[in-house]
Amino acid sequence: MAQGIKMKNNNEITKRRTSGIISHPDAGKTTLTEKLLLFGGAIQTAGAVKNNKIKKTATSDFMEIEKQRGISVATSVMGFEYADYTINILDTPGHKDFTEDTYRTLTAVDSVILVIDCVKGVEEQTRRLMEVCRMRHTPVIIFINKMDREGRNPFDLLDELEEELKINVTPMSWPVGMGPAFQGVFNLEKQNLQLFRPAKTGLPEDVVEIGSLKDENLREMIGDRHTLQLTEDVELINSVYEPLNPELYQDGYLAPVFFGSALNNFGVRELLETFVKIAPSPAPRKTQIREVKPAESTFSGFIFKIHANLDPNHRNRIAFCRICSGKFERNKFYYHTRLNKKMRFTNPTRFMANQKQKTEEAWPGDVVGLYDSGNFKIGDTLTEGEELYYQGIPNFSPEIFRELENKDPFKSKQLEKGIRQLTDEGVAQLFTQQPGNRKIIGTVGELQFEVIQFRLLNEYGASCSFTPLNYYKACWMTSNNEAAMKKIIRVKGRHIAYDKSGQPVFFAESPWILQTTKESYPEIEFHLSTEFNVKSNTTNIGSYA
Ligand code: G4P
Repeated sequence: MAQGIKMKNNNEITKRRTSGIISHPDAGKTTLTEKLLLFGGAIQTAGAVKNNKIKKTATSDFMEIEKQRGISVATSVMGFEYADYTINILDTPGHKDFTEDTYRTLTAVDSVILVIDCVKGVEEQTRRLMEVCRMRHTPVIIFINKMDREGRNPFDLLDELEEELKINVTPMSWPVGMGPAFQGVFNLEKQNLQLFRPAKTGLPEDVVEIGSLKDENLREMIGDRHTLQLTEDVELINSVYEPLNPELYQDGYLAPVFFGSALNNFGVRELLETFVKIAPSPAPRKTQIREVKPAESTFSGFIFKIHANLDPNHRNRIAFCRICSGKFERNKFYYHTRLNKKMRFTNPTRFMANQKQKTEEAWPGDVVGLYDSGNFKIGDTLTEGEELYYQGIPNFSPEIFRELENKDPFKSKQLEKGIRQLTDEGVAQLFTQQPGNRKIIGTVGELQFEVIQFRLLNEYGASCSFTPLNYYKACWMTSNNEAAMKKIIRVKGRHIAYDKSGQPVFFAESPWILQTTKESYPEIEFHLSTEFNVKSNTTNIGSYA
């Protein structure tokens, strides 16, 4: 019996590909996701995937933002079948103010597809997101989109990717012409040419086998000028770029690059085919005591995202759980390790195509949505009884800091509860300073302050205001030298607060102050993320509070 479970389990694991899709806003992430689903047969027509974009104009309109975020619940995880594979695509908000959401989503994936706009090249968000991928050694496939537009020279784009994203690249396909003169892409591995036919729907089957670049048919199809250019380009590619080494890709050192046009379904199939072939299936994951293998028979998983339900009549939230091992089953009791509590889920959902569906079971690599009335915070682990904490759901230094002020003294309890729950959901980070229980809220974007103010009032009846604080970064401090830690806390107390786990955090007003403080306190280590925290961000390591 046990053997039987294991065999099925293995199969369910190796067929899974769980990948995040990231880009700077407008590069074409939503369009590409939709086309991937279209190729997988999960949706019938283009246009069925709602745009998960938080529009720039929404800054002053909170309800609009929430509406857009509401749409993003349904589309933030999309499962579909392609060939023998079960693919889970985790969408990420491109908007800068939700970068933390994206960082956390990246902890739940096994690989990433990065979309680049061929006109704009590497943009600000691309850089930030790739830093996180590099830190985690996440395998990355790059899709250079919008080749139907007059973009940059493809060799320049590859150089820019290598320089700016600090990753080696190798082209898998190569564009012939560009913009109005775009002819198609040449598959460097299969040595065939896919001719470009602009199409908003339908699947292109227009692949021409050419055998070699000297094939007469090639000249006929793309003309002398393009044939010559392609021949020269391919020669250069062969002399400069190594062929794809799947191991280097899987270790996060080498990114295969595809060219195409998502809007025109172009180059998407090739991307998908290579993706299922080389992207890793769920791998073992670290906990505070041991590595957990996906094929283990007992279930375990962690919460990487919590989304507040928008319906004011139903206070529950959806916690997104990434399954790491075993089989998840509806109605079975699981163990919430932080709360030391058994929990059962009667309505777990999976996200197939662009719809939420009740699910009876799920496997490693899958994401299930669990309805929650306030038990979960980001980073929580569920098991079948073992005392495990999954690692590596870090907090990053916020970039905007404000002091939270209570506007209604009769509602201070509600404010306290509200701000704790909202920060458990990951809306922002909360730091507390003593004496006086001063609350400092840190975020990466302005939008979060609007969200907090609105939700505190509407969900908890607490009104608040914010006073801007002129800080540049928050650095978590650790040290083996207790006396040194006590000293900095005494001397710099005005700029030190504690995160929710009691870890001391130094607020630096400028890069220069951070540097001089580091030099003055060599025994203290300053960290810009909680990645140093070996157990879990939910666990209190060496509290000085
Ligand atoms: P995002 O999720 O990364 O933010 O980008 P999204 O897919 O929403 O695409 C941004 C814009 O780029 C959209 O146009 C989309 O149609 C367009 N686009 C995507 N892929 C291609 C492509 O291959 N070629 C060209 N020329 N355009 C592409 P929009 O006008 O902002 O929105 P819409 O009105 O078309 O929805």
